[in-house]
Amino acid sequence: MEQTLLLIKPNVVEDHKIGKVISLLEEKGLLIKDMKMEILTRERAEGFYDIHNGRPFFHPLVDFMTHGPIVEMVLEREDCLQYVRSVVGDTDPQKAAEGTIRRLYGRSITQNAVHASDSIENALKEIQYIFSECG
Ligand code: CMP
Repeated sequence: MEQTLLLIKPNVVEDHKIGKVISLLEEKGLLIKDMKMEILTRERAEGFYDIHNGRPFFHPLVDFMTHGPIVEMVLEREDCLQYVRSVVGDTDPQKAAEGTIRRLYGRSITQNAVHASDSIENALKEIQYIFSECG
């Protein structure tokens, strides 16, 4: 069974919509295999988004991801990665399809409600990074 990492970003926590996002994921048939809340340190957020280091949105993204708690979860289903990406929607909430999480709960490209892994390789790395004992 395939797994992916999903992060609920600080704007959803602030908007009191954690429950709505979790309900939607469960209604779509996704199994929550692990879940916790964390306030990321700068170092941990920079490490997580290292692939984007040097891009213009990197520092605003790290600022946003460290300013409040996030919810971290491992999701499981057949063909989980592609399926979760279809439930989550386009990176830009304004371009995301109706009914997707980012369309419903995103505020902007940075504050786009959730992060989901973009490849099987990255999902394995990100689950390890977020859920390893030293994290
Ligand atoms: P996320 O899935 O968390 O992965 C990287 C994040 O960078 C992305 O969602 C967006 O929140 C953020 N971001 C900000 N600007 C851009 C951009 N122009 N292109 C892609 N991602 C961006």
